[in-house]
Amino acid sequence: MTTEAEIDVHLGPDQLHAALRCDVVEGLGSMPKELPPKWFYDHRGSRLFDEITRLEEYYPTEAEREILLRHAPAIIAEAGADTIVELGSGTSDKTLALLDAARHDGRLRRFMPFDVSEEFLRASAHRLAERYPGLSIHGVVGDFDRHLHHLPRGGRRLVVFLGGTIGNYEPVARKELLAQIVEGMVPGDHLLLGTDLVKSTARVELAYNDPGGITAAFNKNILEVINRELGADFDPQRFDHVALWDPDEEWIDIGLRSRIEQQVSIAALDLEVSFGAGELMRTEVSSKFRTDRLSEELAAVGLDLKALYSDRRGDFGVSLSVLV
Ligand code: AVJ
Repeated sequence: MTTEAEIDVHLGPDQLHAALRCDVVEGLGSMPKELPPKWFYDHRGSRLFDEITRLEEYYPTEAEREILLRHAPAIIAEAGADTIVELGSGTSDKTLALLDAARHDGRLRRFMPFDVSEEFLRASAHRLAERYPGLSIHGVVGDFDRHLHHLPRGGRRLVVFLGGTIGNYEPVARKELLAQIVEGMVPGDHLLLGTDLVKSTARVELAYNDPGGITAAFNKNILEVINRELGADFDPQRFDHVALWDPDEEWIDIGLRSRIEQQVSIAALDLEVSFGAGELMRTEVSSKFRTDRLSEELAAVGLDLKALYSDRRGDFGVSLSVLV
């Protein structure tokens, strides 16, 4: 017998579509133009991202996996949680190390994965239900910019936010997101946060400019998403993938540069957009962290940094902090 997973859906196809329209109108109407990175991840985009995580040049995924495999028992013992909440869980693949350690520890009762993709969430919730009989699995489909408050309350919690996705947020938005996360916690609850660390420019830029062009294809996929969903006529070949380290912001700045002067029409929005030759449209920033800034940002929302685990090469950080 396997336990059935329970799934709440707060984000249906209609709401997703409305949010995309909003983001595109706003983003293409601003100067400079920008599109939020959440729209990379349709089926094809998620597959391309998965390919990225297996690239030699893209170090974060393996580094984080190494950390979790090595330190999961310590993290679980330190957090003493009976409930694990995972934000942006995707396939919950790296989380297995934590769940295995937690089951061994004997305290874990409930796992709550939260993700925008209903397809991924259902598949992984059912897989986990089979792997951990007796564990109560309660998934929530939502956008963590808007639906975090729908997560069921209760339990001694460990909130897990991996992959370095927090790096997609600029400082002000990041503080808001952390504050939202903390809102669902009570003193004594823990946050486990994955953050990529500052390192040599050459290595970061290579990680986002793989010679095989997978990252370029992933970046341009956002144009295909808008073409399909909003009836636009972007020609991805008329844009170049750009990913450059910004030493002041300490983030990698990712965008699409228009090769030529061109007009793009977006039928569903009744919108014509012009791009100048060489015009750069931002699609993502991926911030890299140093320990001092990380602990300051955590402290600003009431979280006290207890431990920062790193991989052997010191590339990536997984921090455990507690709400005081
Ligand atoms: C999934 C946001 C962590 O910022 O490294 C990878 C996304 N973009 N290559 C990152 C990404 C281009 C990734 N995150």
